[in-house]
Amino acid sequence: MKIAIINGPNLNLLGKREKDIYGDMSFEKYLPVLREMFPSVTFYYFQSNIEGELVGEIQRTGFEYDGIVLNPAAYTHTSVAIGDAIAAIKVPVVEVHISNVHAREEFRKLSYVSAKAAGSIFGLGLQGYELAVRWLIGKA
Ligand code: DQA
Repeated sequence: MKIAIINGPNLNLLGKREKDIYGDMSFEKYLPVLREMFPSVTFYYFQSNIEGELVGEIQRTGFEYDGIVLNPAAYTHTSVAIGDAIAAIKVPVVEVHISNVHAREEFRKLSYVSAKAAGSIFGLGLQGYELAVRWLIGKA
């Protein structure tokens, strides 16, 4: 089974950025943990700070992989293009947010992704990625 994990802007700074909100582990440290947890899954990881690159990867992996775990970060709240890309592809997308976006600023409550995603997880820290992968495995 092949799962793509796609992270949006500023998630390259996990572990350094607003640690009180996002924790102190980088995604580069977390990814091997995830790979060890799910040895039967082939993971592809992509992070970009650029909206168009995220759309490109959703389009590409969306016809090639078995599932996508997507944290579009700030683009969640602004990007019609990312929402449209999810609607355009075949594979299920699980939206993940490390923080509880509903307990933060008002603008974080709007997601252009949730309505197009199979489901959404927020506020459970990095464990949200693990739960998303478990769901995708169960669905396959
Ligand atoms: C985030 C929440 C977004 O509102 C924010 O812009 C992020 C990270 C999260 O994982 O909690 O960059 O997607």
